[in-house]
Amino acid sequence: MDNRSSRVDTRSTSRKARVAGHPHLRIVYSRYNGGVSFRIRQFEKADFDTLWQIDQDCFDPQLAYSRPELAFYMRRPGSFTLVAEGDGGIDGFIVAESRRKSGHIITIDVIAKARRTGIGSVLLQAAEEKLSRSGAATVALETPVNNEAAIRFYKEKGYFVEKTVAGYYSGQLDALVMAKELARSPVG
Ligand SMILES: CC(C)(COP(=O)(O)OP(=O)(O)OC[C@H]1O[C@@H](n2cnc3c(N)ncnc32)[C@H](O)[C@@H]1OP(=O)(O)O)[C@@H](O)C(=O)NCCC(=O)NCCS
Repeated sequence: MDNRSSRVDTRSTSRKARVAGHPHLRIVYSRYNGGVSFRIRQFEKADFDTLWQIDQDCFDPQLAYSRPELAFYMRRPGSFTLVAEGDGGIDGFIVAESRRKSGHIITIDVIAKARRTGIGSVLLQAAEEKLSRSGAATVALETPVNNEAAIRFYKEKGYFVEKTVAGYYSGQLDALVMAKELARSPVG
């Protein structure tokens, strides 16, 4: 989760935002943990308010993104957003960005009632595959030191703690920087 306390400096991102196309994205249906069915698809403009609301529900007010912050991270060059959609609507999403040889997970949010059904795993895997295809050899992320669920989730996915950054969130809450090496994926 990127620094949710920092103000969005639109001056540094005045170039026209674009969301990269995802021509190779696989559609994934998962029956993980018995019975949950969803697909992973690209973000569409009409999803934005739902994603923002999910983020509001997932995080404390001091950590949740404002609309401009979320839009800023989703539009940054090299960033992409994947959405998990079930029969009842959007269950979760992930925002990630490619920075040449390294990838960065900006946020991953799964609605409370859909957690522990594999949605986060499939979203993360889809993002890692996309980062790998774009040339990333490693992926990194930040998470609050008190977010035990996320830390356990990422450790289970092969991430290790690289370092702690004191006061990363609002100067008050420390972040763990976690990272993982990505397996090379075939081109295409
Ligand atoms: C972290 C998060 C994305 C995980 O999504 P999820 O869909 O519940 O994850 P999965 O069902 O794929 O879990 C895979 C594994 O991760 C681990 N895990 C996930 N949530 C866990 C929890 N609350 N406690 C312990 N382990 C957990 C488990 O090993 C789990 O496998 P299992 O269910 O078979 O035991 C979700 O809890 C979430 O959206 N949290 C709120 C937002 C957030 O904190 N995002 C991270 C920002 S840094």
